[in-house]
Amino acid sequence: MNTTPTRTMHSLLLSIILLISSSFLSSAHTQDFFTCLKSYKNSNGSIYTQQNPTFSTLRQSMVQNILAQNRLPLNPTAILTPSHEKEIQVAVHCAKMFDLLIRVRSGGHDFEGLSYLSQVPFIIIDLVNIRSISIDAKKKTAWVGGGATVGELYHALATKSRTLAFSTGTCATIGVGGHFSGGGFGIMSRKYGLSGDNIIDAKIIDYKGRLLNRKAMGEDLFWAIRGGGGGSFGIVTAWKIELVTVPKTVTVFNVTRPLDNHTAELVHKWQSIAPKIDNNLFIRVIINKFNGVLQISFKSFFIGRANDLLKIMQKSFPELGLLDSDCVEMSWIDSVLYHANFRRGDSIDVLLNRLNVTGTYFKIKSDYVTSPISENGLGGLFEMLQEEDVPILIDLQWSPYGGKMAEISESSLPFPHRAGIKYMIESIFVLAPPQAVNVDRYMSWIDRYYKYMSTYVSKSPRRAYINFRDLDLGVNNYVSNSTSSYNKAKKWGKRYFNNNFQRLSHVKSKVDPTNFFRHEQSIPPFK
Ligand SMILES: Cc1cc2nc3c(=O)[nH]c(=O)nc-3n(C[C@H](O)[C@H](O)[C@H](O)COP(=O)(O)OP(=O)(O)OC[C@H]3O[C@@H](n4cnc5c(N)ncnc54)[C@H](O)[C@@H]3O)c2cc1C
Ligand SMILES: *[C@@H]1O[C@H](CO)[C@@H](O)[C@H](O)[C@H]1NC(C)=O
Ligand SMILES: *[C@@H]1O[C@H](CO)[C@@H](O)[C@H](O)[C@H]1NC(C)=O
Ligand SMILES: *[C@@H]1O[C@H](CO)[C@@H](O)[C@H](O)[C@H]1NC(C)=O
Ligand SMILES: *[C@@H]1O[C@H](CO)[C@@H](O)[C@H](O)[C@H]1NC(C)=O
Ligand SMILES: *[C@@H]1O[C@H](CO)[C@@H](O)[C@H](O)[C@H]1NC(C)=O
Repeated sequence: MNTTPTRTMHSLLLSIILLISSSFLSSAHTQDFFTCLKSYKNSNGSIYTQQNPTFSTLRQSMVQNILAQNRLPLNPTAILTPSHEKEIQVAVHCAKMFDLLIRVRSGGHDFEGLSYLSQVPFIIIDLVNIRSISIDAKKKTAWVGGGATVGELYHALATKSRTLAFSTGTCATIGVGGHFSGGGFGIMSRKYGLSGDNIIDAKIIDYKGRLLNRKAMGEDLFWAIRGGGGGSFGIVTAWKIELVTVPKTVTVFNVTRPLDNHTAELVHKWQSIAPKIDNNLFIRVIINKFNGVLQISFKSFFIGRANDLLKIMQKSFPELGLLDSDCVEMSWIDSVLYHANFRRGDSIDVLLNRLNVTGTYFKIKSDYVTSPISENGLGGLFEMLQEEDVPILIDLQWSPYGGKMAEISESSLPFPHRAGIKYMIESIFVLAPPQAVNVDRYMSWIDRYYKYMSTYVSKSPRRAYINFRDLDLGVNNYVSNSTSSYNKAKKWGKRYFNNNFQRLSHVKSKVDPTNFFRHEQSIPPFK
């Protein structure tokens, strides 16, 4: 009887000792890590530790999707902002030695926050200071730092010339580090392909801390990093891209219609027309519901003048009834601002703003359509969207493929969605307080939507775009470097990469055999 309190006391003491020793060990461990970074500290890059007064503000500023943060911890041991490749090499070396994972962050737009969240001890390497851009206008090439945003790239191009352009995403704040790594689709992709299709060299730091260019890394790794998704193979510090020349004047339009039978019919027709129309013309359908108001827009970009655009539309898509007054001629860079949703007349300097514009609650799903959705199918979708209890903002962006996208072979890059794809669906759902306290209810609506669409989209696999990262498709167990399994990852890997997934996994075995660069959806070594 009288031993019980003693025993309790004993085990209490023991656990206190264990607690103290484990926290002592881990802080000593952490200290050793910082000692290891000594040569990093001697150069210019900054290290933010948890003791740093600005640490928590800096960490919080990285969160662009609060829903993602609810799912995974935001507790890095340190945030590093290197300004030179050498510093990254030191950081890789020390992180490996002290068993810390690396989350590399470029624009920080990963929909699931995988550039700043992790369930195992980690550091964030933020490439915000690795973003120089140098353009060779004569050779029509450029080197772009791995931490630059596409907005900064657009800005640099516009500063150099009115007609030098690059095929890349529309949102100005996405980073080239993640975006190019997943392919990179934009409004010029029907004409010029993905960003990845136009990359001709790169610099990457591998798990051994070596800095490799295309020649040194070899063609397998160079293939893998142009579409295989970020965070799997190393840290890309720069991309060399091939630029294109566009005319001095291009044309845009945005025709918005309320949802009625005529509009439904237009959308139905659009499905067969938009993927086949002139490569210079990109017509995106945007089905938007905000605060209960549903509208459908045909938002477009044309590489050419308005009169040529009108001729094409008259011949191929007269049903839309496009008027001369709908067409707005402008410079290529102004069309970039237009499609990035800036106001007319804004200075191009808005492209340089790197701040998080998306800091909110959202969920993304992606799909690919290989044969037009029937009128009935569309009708059912529109009915669903008219339900009352939906997320405050629904934005369905239907982007036509075809053109150059269909000419490039499926195995040319890891990105497999080429011939046979009519269009891509990006479904964006935003919750705002007070909806955000009731996340599960809205998630189940999104699940129902996704299930409904399964009848009408690609099957076996049901395809998805790696840059629209979605952890609902499946995740790795990456707690230890040996736990990620190829067979388990196939489930989601085939959906992003189809037949290229196995090759990606073989490349991974070769270039990162210890699975040092790993996360929820990194490519596992082949087993
Ligand atoms: C508002 C918005 C608009 C978008 N519009 C488009 C669009 O028009 N077209 C399109 O194709 N996609 C678009 N996307 C998706 C976008 O391409 C992806 O989210 C992309 O991964 C973002 O890159 P990032 O550098 O900003 O993200 P990050 O979160 O920094 O990185 C994404 C992933 O890549 C890794 N990574 C980052 N930098 C590097 C590097 N240098 N080397 C190796 N790995 C790295 C990260 O660790 C992470 O795993 C959009 C996303 C958002 C939020
Ligand atoms: C640090 O920055 C200074 C000033 O920009 C530069 O002269 C110096 O070479 C840098 N040092 C390293 C190690 O990068
Ligand atoms: C297109 O124009 C309509 C009407 O002016 C506007 O409400 C909508 O936001 C625009 N859509 C896009 C995607 O720019
Ligand atoms: C289309 O017309 C049918 C039959 O007139 C009607 O029942 C339906 O509500 C209409 N749909 C839309 C979206 O207006
Ligand atoms: C980023 O978004 C979050 C969430 O909305 C917000 O708290 C934070 O202040 C934002 N950071 C910046 C730098 O705008
Ligand atoms: C895991 O990483 C350690 C340290 O790098 C390495 O020694 C070990 O071989 C790795 N295990 C596997 C299965 O790759």
